[in-house]
Amino acid sequence: MRIGVVAETADGETRVAATPSTVVQLLKLGYEVSVQAGAGEASAYPDVDYAAAGAVIVDRIDAWSAEVVLTVNAPSDAELALLAERATLVSWLSSGLNPGVVEKLVALPITALAVDAVPRISRAQSMDVLSSTANISGYRAVVEAANRFGRFFTGQVTAAGKVPPAKVLVAGAGVAGLAAIGAASSMGAIVRATDPRPEVAEQVKSIGGTYLAVEVAEQTQSSSDGYAKATSEAYNARAAEIYSEQAADVDIIITTANIPGRRAPVLITAADVAAMKSGSVIGYTDLARRLPAQASQLYGQNLVNLLKLLTPGKDGRLVLDHSDVVQRAITVAQNGEKLWPPPPVQVSAAPAAAAASPVLTAPAKKTGMSRTAKAVLTVVGIAVLFGVVAVAPEPLPQHITVLVLAVVIGFYVIGKVHHALHTPLMSVTNAISGIVVVGAMLQLTIDDPATRILASVAVLLASINIFGGFAVSRRMLRMFSKD
Ligand code: NAI
Repeated sequence: MRIGVVAETADGETRVAATPSTVVQLLKLGYEVSVQAGAGEASAYPDVDYAAAGAVIVDRIDAWSAEVVLTVNAPSDAELALLAERATLVSWLSSGLNPGVVEKLVALPITALAVDAVPRISRAQSMDVLSSTANISGYRAVVEAANRFGRFFTGQVTAAGKVPPAKVLVAGAGVAGLAAIGAASSMGAIVRATDPRPEVAEQVKSIGGTYLAVEVAEQTQSSSDGYAKATSEAYNARAAEIYSEQAADVDIIITTANIPGRRAPVLITAADVAAMKSGSVIGYTDLARRLPAQASQLYGQNLVNLLKLLTPGKDGRLVLDHSDVVQRAITVAQNGEKLWPPPPVQVSAAPAAAAASPVLTAPAKKTGMSRTAKAVLTVVGIAVLFGVVAVAPEPLPQHITVLVLAVVIGFYVIGKVHHALHTPLMSVTNAISGIVVVGAMLQLTIDDPATRILASVAVLLASINIFGGFAVSRRMLRMFSKD
């Protein structure tokens, strides 16, 4: 199949849906790639780089007539008219906020996939354009603010006098908010943040910010899916007081608050802005477009990851499988059939208590064996063990007993260790396999070529295990080292 990468025509758009490096990956999936001439110009990806990566540079009509068309923004009516019959459009459609687009797509003999509808589940994180874009926007908001702000971010004591640090307020501490808090605090600013989800307090603190809790009698908090719901009147009233106080005190305000499927709440009023100090900064809304090379690279990589899922044969053939929760969630329309909105998906941002939510539609995981089957298997296993021990010649029964006990104890011990600690645990247990080296070295003294060869191989493999284990531990420790 041929993928078309088109030049974006939305006002002020600087991004592109594929970069030379993502083109290489699309080709590896078996697709041909056509890039519209000049598509990457505004993101500093010239046509020659796409051509060098293996794409064919084509005109607008050719790019839009491909079997799979990748775009950043929802196409205009004129662009939709250029799509070929049975084409697949992969685009940021904002279908929830833009029902008109959905109707137009349903009227066409095409398949429309909304990348912004990828469910926020762990498996789909690599395709999550919302997170990539939010991360860029949060970071860029701080860079823009630092550029506009006429002072240092960090406090300084200089020979000429003391400089206070800048004060930054970040409203909303989701992906964008946390990126902004991290960037601003790493530049030395005092950062405060609000969010109706109390669980973000720890995250804000861990990256150097101060969480401003909006305390009201009835708690507003995470919805069952881990995202904020519309906040209550009491919450909004108390929050408005905090914003008014903060507006008069801080130098920079960055707003990132959002509620899925709705327009972003308005938190800072005209009166708050008027109360800000002269020289304070509030910001732009097109932040991802202000970092186009990075935004295009991450967006393009998200699309590559999505296409990997949609190209199971790596043969350049896009296959859509609606039994997969991710693929179903992004399909807005398919050859005249309206598939929007998709069934709800329980997202991984959900707090633990929400796990039992009835809206779980992801394919049910295998629940494992029933209790009876487990009991029967255990009894059979014990019987087999006793049988083998009874008939096996010495010293086999002893070895088998030790082996079985080691397996059982290892299973229960490792099962109780937190997942995050599995890698260091495994690297240390790898090192324990050093005992194999001792045994194998003893065998090397035996005067039998086969035994010696086997013993040498055992020494080699066990040594790789030991040194590999320590190398992994060292690498992990380096990740936590501040330098
Ligand atoms: P978002 O873009 O929907 O909202 C941004 C932030 O605004 C949220 O933190 C929300 O609580 C906050 N907010 C809503 N109303 C507000 C108000 N009135 N005042 C102040 N703040 C308000 O959310 P985002 O950033 O996309 O993610 C939210 C959560 O989901 C995060 O905890 C994130 O870690 C998690 N997540 C999980 C993913 C996964 O597992 N695949 C992917 C992305 C996010």
